Amino acid sequence: MCGIVGYVGKQKAAAIILEGLKRLEYRGYDSAGVCVLQAGKLDVAKKAGRVEVLVKEAARHKFTGTSGIGHTRWATHGGVTDANAHPHVSSDGKLALIHNGVIENYAGMKKFLAGKGYTFKSETDTEALCNLIAYHYAKEPAPKNGGSRFLESVRKALRHVEGTYGIAVLCADCPDEIVAARKASPLVLGVGDQEYILASDAAAIVSRTQNVVYLKDGELVHITPRAFAISTLDQADVSPVVDTITWKVGDADLNGYAHFMEKEIFEQPQALENTMRGRFAEDGSTAQFGGLNLSAAEFRQIDRLLFCACGSAWHACLVAEHLVESFARVPVEVDYASEFRYRNVPLDRNTLCWVISQSGETIDTLAALREAKRKGHRVLAINNVVGSTIAREADGGVYQHVGPEIGVASTKAFTSQLLLGAMIALYIARMRDMSFSDGVQYVQSLKGAPDLVRTVLKQAPKIRKIAKKYAKHADFLFLGRLSLFPVALEGALKLKEISYIHAEGYPTAEMKHGPIALVSEQCPSVFLVPKGDVFNKIVSSMQEIKARKGPIIAVVTAGSEIPPGVADEVIPIPDCHPAVLPIVATIPVQLLSYYIALERGCDVDKPRNLAKSVTVE
Ligand code: AGP
Ligand code: GLU
Repeated sequence: MCGIVGYVGKQKAAAIILEGLKRLEYRGYDSAGVCVLQAGKLDVAKKAGRVEVLVKEAARHKFTGTSGIGHTRWATHGGVTDANAHPHVSSDGKLALIHNGVIENYAGMKKFLAGKGYTFKSETDTEALCNLIAYHYAKEPAPKNGGSRFLESVRKALRHVEGTYGIAVLCADCPDEIVAARKASPLVLGVGDQEYILASDAAAIVSRTQNVVYLKDGELVHITPRAFAISTLDQADVSPVVDTITWKVGDADLNGYAHFMEKEIFEQPQALENTMRGRFAEDGSTAQFGGLNLSAAEFRQIDRLLFCACGSAWHACLVAEHLVESFARVPVEVDYASEFRYRNVPLDRNTLCWVISQSGETIDTLAALREAKRKGHRVLAINNVVGSTIAREADGGVYQHVGPEIGVASTKAFTSQLLLGAMIALYIARMRDMSFSDGVQYVQSLKGAPDLVRTVLKQAPKIRKIAKKYAKHADFLFLGRLSLFPVALEGALKLKEISYIHAEGYPTAEMKHGPIALVSEQCPSVFLVPKGDVFNKIVSSMQEIKARKGPIIAVVTAGSEIPPGVADEVIPIPDCHPAVLPIVATIPVQLLSYYIALERGCDVDKPRNLAKSVTVE
C-alpha cells in the first residue's frame, strides 16, 4: 500500500523520483507528491489523482535539487485531496515526510503538538508524525561526536509512535540527506554509483542498480551523499547486508501488451515453468525444495498442516488443502491470516504452518506468521518477492520465481501458488502412501501444465466475444465443486476487483441454498464442469439454473457432453490430472474477467479503492 521513493545523488532528483513513482503506482494511486530540497528550501508538488497528474504539476516547479522524496498514496486517514497527499511539511517548514502505514496514536500527538504551537493543513495521521519530528528537531541539542541532530530527532519521535510506518524524511538544514525508517511497512535501499535510491519495493530501484539493502523492522537508515548508516531505535549500529536483485528492468514493462494483467495472464506458461525448474527429484517421482530448512524425517513427523493467507493467496490455500488431503492424506486447516492472528487457534506440536503471499508484505499474513512463530511453531512461506519481509522472517520456504506481478489483480502469481500447493501435496504424499509410478505420473502431469495452459490461452478471442455479450450484466455467480470451488471464488474475486460487477463464488450444490434467489436472465452463472464423479450432479445444477432462465457459461472438460440447450456458452478445457485441473480451469475465468473489464472501460491494472500490496490492517 502506497509507494515511497527517495533519492540522494548527483542527478536531478525529481525525474528519478517521478519515474520510480510510475513504477510503484500499482501500490497506491489516489494521489501523489514529490518534495525536492533546493537552496535550503523544501519545495513540494502534490496532487490528488494519478502520477501523470503529478508529472504535469511537477513540471511547473522546475525542480533542480539532487535530493528528494516522493509518494503515491492509498488513503487511510483523510479523503483523497491535494492537502492530504504526501509529502507533508512540518508547520515550521523544517521537515518533509512521506509515510506508508498508520500512526494509531496520531490524535494524542496532534493535541500535544497543537499545544506547542504546531499547526496542521491535512486530515492525515502522517502530518502528526511530521510535526513531532520537527518538535524534537527544534529541541534536540547539537549532538557530540559528529552525530546527526536530524537523525536523532527522527529516532526520538519514532519512539513515541504506535502503529506502522515506512517513512522517509528530508530536512531543510541537511542538503543531500534522507533519514528513513520502517516498522511493518517495507523499505529497500538501492546502493548505486554515487547515488542512493530508497523505495518501498525493488521495482523503483532496478533501473538504477541491482544492489540493495532490505531494511528490517525497527531500523533507521541515514543517507548522506557519500555513505549510508543503519541503526536501530535503541541507537545500536547495524552492519548492512547488500543483496542483489534478480529482476531485470524489462521484467516490469508492458512489452507490447495493453495491460500488465493481460501480460501476466499470457506469461503463465513460462511462469509455471520457472516455478517448477529444478524442483523435481532425479528419479522423477517427487518434488524437491531447497529452502524448507526441514529434513525429510522432520517432515514425516507432521500430522497436520495449517495454511494462512489473504485474498487470492487464500484461494490458493484452499486448493492446496484439497490436494494435500486427497493425495497425502494429511488433514489441513486453512485460515484467513487476518482472522488467525486474533483467533488464538490451538496448534498441535506436529502441525506445520505455511503462509502464502505474492508480495511477502501483506500485513495480516505477516502478523499470522509472527503469531504462529510466537507460539513456537516453525512457519514456512510461499512468496514471489525475493527478500520480502515474510520471506525473511519465515523459517524456510519456497520462492515462486514468476517475476514481478504488477497488475493489482493477481494472475500468474495465483496459478504459480496453485502449482506449488500441488508440488507440496506430492512431496508429502510420496513420503506416505503414494506409489513410485503414481508419483511419476503426477510429475509428468505437472510438467505438462504449461502446454495445457497455452492451449486454453488460444481461446482468448472466443472468450472475448463471450465477455462482450455479458459485460452489461450486474450480477454473476461462479460455481465450482471440490478443487474447483476455490477457482470459483477466484473467478468471482477477479470480476469484482476489476470490473466492479457484483459476483459470488459458491460450491455448485450450495447454490440452491440461497444464491439461486439471485438467478434471472440478468444474472449469468459461470459453471466449472470437469469430467469425473460429480459431472452429472453439476449438470443437474445447471438445469436448475436454466429452469429459472439464468444464462450459463460453462467451462467444460473437452469431450464431455452437456445436454443440448443447457449451456449458453461453452469454453472447453483439456482433460488433465487432478493436480493440474485447478490451474487449467483458472485461465478462462481470468480471461473472462479481463475482457469484461475492458468492455466496461475499467482501469484494469489500477482498480478503484484497491492497492497491490496491503500493508495496513
Ligand atoms: C488478488 O487479485 C488481490 N488483489 C488480493 O486479494 C491479493 O491476493 C491479497 O491482497 C494477498 O496479497 P499477497 O499475495 O501479496 O499477500
Ligand atoms: N496513513 C497515511 C495516509 O492516510 C498513509 C497511507 C499510505 O500508506 O498511503 O495518508
